[in-house]
Amino acid sequence: MDRIRIVGGNELHGVIPISGAKNAALPLMIASLLTDDTLTLENVPHLADVEQLSRILGNHGVDISVNGRRERQGESYARTIHFTCRNIVDTTAPYELVSKMRASFWVIGPLLAREGKARVSLPGGCAIGTRPVDLFIEGLQALSANIEIDGGYVNATAPAGGLIGARYTFPKVSVGATHVLMMAATLANGTTVLGNAAREPEVADLANCLNAMGAKITGQGTATITIEGVRSLSGARHRVLPDRIETGTYAMAVAMTGGDVILEDTDMALLDTALEAIRRAGAEITPTNSGIRVVRNGAGIKPVDIVTDPFPGFPTDLQAQFMGLMTKSNGVSHITETIFENRFMHVQELARLGAKISLSGQTAKIEGVSRLKGAPVMATDLRASVSLVIAGLAAEGETMVSRVYHLDRGFERLEEKLTRCGAHVERVSD
Ligand code: UD1
Repeated sequence: MDRIRIVGGNELHGVIPISGAKNAALPLMIASLLTDDTLTLENVPHLADVEQLSRILGNHGVDISVNGRRERQGESYARTIHFTCRNIVDTTAPYELVSKMRASFWVIGPLLAREGKARVSLPGGCAIGTRPVDLFIEGLQALSANIEIDGGYVNATAPAGGLIGARYTFPKVSVGATHVLMMAATLANGTTVLGNAAREPEVADLANCLNAMGAKITGQGTATITIEGVRSLSGARHRVLPDRIETGTYAMAVAMTGGDVILEDTDMALLDTALEAIRRAGAEITPTNSGIRVVRNGAGIKPVDIVTDPFPGFPTDLQAQFMGLMTKSNGVSHITETIFENRFMHVQELARLGAKISLSGQTAKIEGVSRLKGAPVMATDLRASVSLVIAGLAAEGETMVSRVYHLDRGFERLEEKLTRCGAHVERVSD
């Protein structure tokens, strides 16, 4: 199994191209189930999760062809992929596939809307919390779906004439349930109004793509989304928006090591709250023509308290990385996680590098230390694993991160992007 070896101590200087957002690409790919025409997505990142979802979509009858690559310095960083689902050949998403990636549960929305039925395995537990699917079920029931749970599967059927538009207010903000309800409502009879909807940029990206396919959605990016049902959707061409989590991760890496890096093909507006926290920690952040410049020279890292929240709050997907940064601050900081109940697994691993962190409920107290020391550490989930990379970049000596497959789910060419900026990072295959 691959591991990542980091020798810490180098500043980062150079340019890092930011990939298309994994969390936008996945629902956009799933939207291809809604039409018999071709949906072309540009700027799709090359990631294990994208490959896994491609296998799942293939199972439902989606034909997938990759025919364009964006080349940069001899490497391809993004792909243009065509998704065509002439017919849905199978409305069942089996446990073997869904259990590998939670987002694959989201196929329930388009399958139900287009075919009137879907049988989708419950996603099962997940390392960062229990992550139930009650909101999906309640929301689809509001659109008049009949839902039964049997043998670990959700069996959903639409009324004879199709789903029926309705007003539904989420009791809790959920990105996934907003994606699914929005997709299902595009082909429903009548109008759906979703209240307390997720405002994440990836939700707006999906809505914009669905509108390009002929849907009638307004209010995306706000807490109230209105979807007027249409009879059918057509194909479209859509560019996946930049990955704000990857952007924030590399900005934190520069804040950690010091240096001067341009994050290219990204947009500050996607992550205002996180960038403000990095600024308060001591980095200078300015817009450039095509992205963001992050600089930290001289002064050390200042302690900053954060609380994770749904967008536009501080993203839970950057919490672990920010904790990595705070391990070397010159004071005491507090990080409170409000989205997932078990998202502190990186604490023990950061401690192996010499970090001083104590947990009390959902809040971590981080006492900054002047030096971290390299050690063998284990990646526990996608975002936690990259916090270990950030800490390793600033630790003395060698840090060896095992279980790298977590990183490969969400970070395209991580070691290359960092190495080009002067870091000592390499993949070791056993
Ligand atoms: C998405 C992102 C993930 C990010 C998360 C929160 C993708 C592929 N994943 O995950 O990276 O960390 O948003 O920004 O886009 N919940 C329920 N019942 C439900 C659904 C959710 O209680 O039916 C809870 C969850 O357990 C969690 C909270 O709602 O506590 C938010 O989860 P949600 O926004 O749904 O996360 P995901 O869409 O799974």
